[in-house]
Amino acid sequence: MASPTVRNPKAIAPPVGPTGAAPFVRSVVDSSVGAKVLVALTGLGLAGFAVVHMIGNLKVFGGPDAINHYADFLKHDLGALIWIARAGLLGVFLLHIALAIRLTLRARAARPVPYAHPGRVQATAASRTMIWSGAVVGLFILFHLAHFTLLGFQKVEVGGGKMVPVLELKDAKGRHDVYSMVVVGFTTPWLCVLYVAAQLVLFVHLLHGVQSAFQTLGLKNNRFAPAIRLLGVAVAATILVGNLVIVIGIWAGAVPPITSMAR
Ligand code: HEM
Repeated sequence: MASPTVRNPKAIAPPVGPTGAAPFVRSVVDSSVGAKVLVALTGLGLAGFAVVHMIGNLKVFGGPDAINHYADFLKHDLGALIWIARAGLLGVFLLHIALAIRLTLRARAARPVPYAHPGRVQATAASRTMIWSGAVVGLFILFHLAHFTLLGFQKVEVGGGKMVPVLELKDAKGRHDVYSMVVVGFTTPWLCVLYVAAQLVLFVHLLHGVQSAFQTLGLKNNRFAPAIRLLGVAVAATILVGNLVIVIGIWAGAVPPITSMAR
């Protein structure tokens, strides 16, 4: 007969790890699986933002009033919400980059000698270059923020030889003239070339990224694999086509010229 377990009342209790939210978050971020899940979730969030942003930007084809009204609504009618959304987006962006870099460095440290037969390893060119396509997209986003949000380094002549920075342009209703800013941007050939190139790299990044995120989350099993592959291609292609239509459409003169005036 098995003897019952008797606990020694004087025995030292086994060590218990720190409890609470902060240690839990640290352990998730520190573990490779936790970091991969976070890279997947933040990546899907950023892809979602890119789709919504593209749909909003397509309003440029509705004319100055449509896109200026939309931008004004986002900036002025949402109150504190816009700052919460911006802070959230920045946090998600930084977390995605930091964890992706750390996972790549860890993977390289774990396999300092490359595979003897790289051709046999199941990896596409897009998957092997994720860190580089991601770096280019990150640099593009920094440039893009400087271009349209923070610096607005282009200027527009508003009559009498007066040059006004694009961030200070106002439309007839006194709103920021986002329409003119975008049209001035995409009637500048070197900017069009840069944006088109960046969209192609973003496409390559998303083509692998979206499918890979679903795989990490355990959703790309045998049953759903074809649907997930299709979804990855659809998301990447939608963002590519939508953004290229904006850049190339404006470049080709598909929207009315600007009628901006500085107030
Ligand atoms: C051809 C493609 C794109 C166009 C035409 C475009 C257009 C714009 C414009 C006009 C603004 C300023 C909005 C305003 O002042 O109200 C803006 C801001 C921004 N764009 Fe883009 N964008 C493009 C692609 C992208 C991509 C691919 C990303 C990243 C995924 C991105 C991320 C952002 C962010 C984070 C902001 C700042 C939003 C804020 O100020 O709250 N954009 N974009």
